[in-house]
Amino acid sequence: MALPIAVLISGAGGNLGAILEAIDTGRCNARVCAVLSDRGSAAGLEHASARGIARSVVKLKDHADREHWNRALADATAAHRPELVVLAGFMKLVDKSFVQRFGGRVINVHPSLLPLFPGVDGPAQAVRARVRVSGCTVHLVDDGIDSGRIIAQAVVPVLPGDDAERLHARIKGAEHKLLPAVIHAIASGEVTLGGELRVAEPAFDDGAMLVSPLLGALRS
Ligand code: GRF
Repeated sequence: MALPIAVLISGAGGNLGAILEAIDTGRCNARVCAVLSDRGSAAGLEHASARGIARSVVKLKDHADREHWNRALADATAAHRPELVVLAGFMKLVDKSFVQRFGGRVINVHPSLLPLFPGVDGPAQAVRARVRVSGCTVHLVDDGIDSGRIIAQAVVPVLPGDDAERLHARIKGAEHKLLPAVIHAIASGEVTLGGELRVAEPAFDDGAMLVSPLLGALRS
């Protein structure tokens, strides 16, 4: 049965679109049960509208403080009974109680090879550091900034003449393959988020991408 997932976004929703396309084409055995955003203007919300998926906006400024906002966001998300929460370009930090509410089943995609370049502007940080490769990471969410255990990473080259925007565009291409592949791996039981970990390496057909699910990385 398809894994019910809630997807949280703040902006364009390119990753959400990639997840939906992977579902449509049979590459990801999941079902998006809700799309949530902290911004009413998030263009990615249109993906939900276009497909009749439940959508909800929970703005920080509508709540007394971050704690109340986190609780409201968790309530709005939990209402759709997801078995996995996916932060896909969600630009605010969720707190420990949010993660606990979903039994730790919260993942995030970040545009760098963590633990390098956490926080905002991962691609700009990579360009400034003059690294030759960068990429993206799908990781478990904890109460730190992009610090949860790494599930999988994809590497892309940093090419001569790259600025942050060009590099980010290339990284997004990798995110759009990696994130649906990880969700599928979780849905099919190849990756379990706790206890025993079994991982089968996602295979992409464009050999250019090195994907490295970290076997055993989730074992405590
Ligand atoms: C992605 O690069 C994601 O890793 C980062 O923000 C970007 C969001 O892109 N946190 P989109 O909204 O999925 O198009």
